[in-house]
Amino acid sequence: MTGTKITGIGTALPEKVVTNDDLAELIDTTDEWIRDRTGIRERRVGAPTTTLGIEAGRNAMEMAGVGPDDIDVLVVATTTPDQRLPASSAAIQAGLDLRCGSFDVNAVCAGFSYAYITTCGLMQLPMGPKRALVVGADSLSAITDWQDRNTAILFADAGGAVVMETTEEDNLLSWNLGTDGRYRSILYADHDGYIIMEGKEVFKVAVRAVTRSVGEALDDAGLTPDDVDVLLLHQANIRIIEAICKRIDIPIEKSHNVIETTGNTSSATIPLCMAKAHEAGVLQPGAIVLMTGFGAGMTWATTVIRW
Ligand code: ACO
Repeated sequence: MTGTKITGIGTALPEKVVTNDDLAELIDTTDEWIRDRTGIRERRVGAPTTTLGIEAGRNAMEMAGVGPDDIDVLVVATTTPDQRLPASSAAIQAGLDLRCGSFDVNAVCAGFSYAYITTCGLMQLPMGPKRALVVGADSLSAITDWQDRNTAILFADAGGAVVMETTEEDNLLSWNLGTDGRYRSILYADHDGYIIMEGKEVFKVAVRAVTRSVGEALDDAGLTPDDVDVLLLHQANIRIIEAICKRIDIPIEKSHNVIETTGNTSSATIPLCMAKAHEAGVLQPGAIVLMTGFGAGMTWATTVIRW
């Protein structure tokens, strides 16, 4: 078996900061309500997906110390492509001057986890890529109705990326993917439409699905919640994060949350959390890292890796 390790992490945020008070000038809401119900204080908006993906990718490649010729495949997770076609990965590939094949993955807010697992699979192939760039980038502000207080308070824009390299050691300990398409109607956006969401339903289904997925992934890895050193959870709402931590029995202190200043940035949230964990110095060799994302579909994905 060929393993993979993450050798570079990069992020990108738009310059424009929108505070809760800014939103309260547009819609009937308050800073206090938004902070209490979501944990969000401010968010960044106003950059296209590909711009964010290119910047995050460049930063990850810089950290890994690799150049454009070193990347053998580019996988981009996004649910907000700037164009219907070509795939966002084509613009990101050109923006980074890469020479490799590239494609998009769309699993909404579980997109980064899906892209990560897909890339692990590619790297196992005979003659598979030795080095991959995995990008999660979304510009949810483009599909958010800024007059809808149900959604405008939650969504924002960001990019995140990792460089993955093959190793001798197989350190993908387990993975777990799921979708329940019967819940499509609780969170969706039609072509040229805005995000429509039944927030309470999404909350309930997400907590249930992630709790089950994490339990199954830990069982498959032969681990217990105590074994987890670092938890990287999709950032949708701090109350969802708290509810999940309680149910999976992993202290919230092991999670590295960014939601307060970024809001929900879909495919970018897990690499943003990973960058924060890296800064905190907890991503040490041997650390057990659990990543889990969920999104519209409903769809979810959990991976357990040994750093
Ligand atoms: N400001 C002020 N008041 C508000 C707002 C607002 N922005 N929105 C709703 N209210 C009011 C409601 O009208 C209601 O008033 P009422 O009691 O007089 O009827 C009251 O506040 C409570 O509303 P609820 O909808 O019950 O609020 P809740 O606690 O469920 O919080 C929220 C709403 C934040 C949307 C929550 O349900 C949530 O976060 N759900 C999950 C959403 C999510 O994670 N989506 C992304 C998934 S990932 C992806 O794929 C993109």
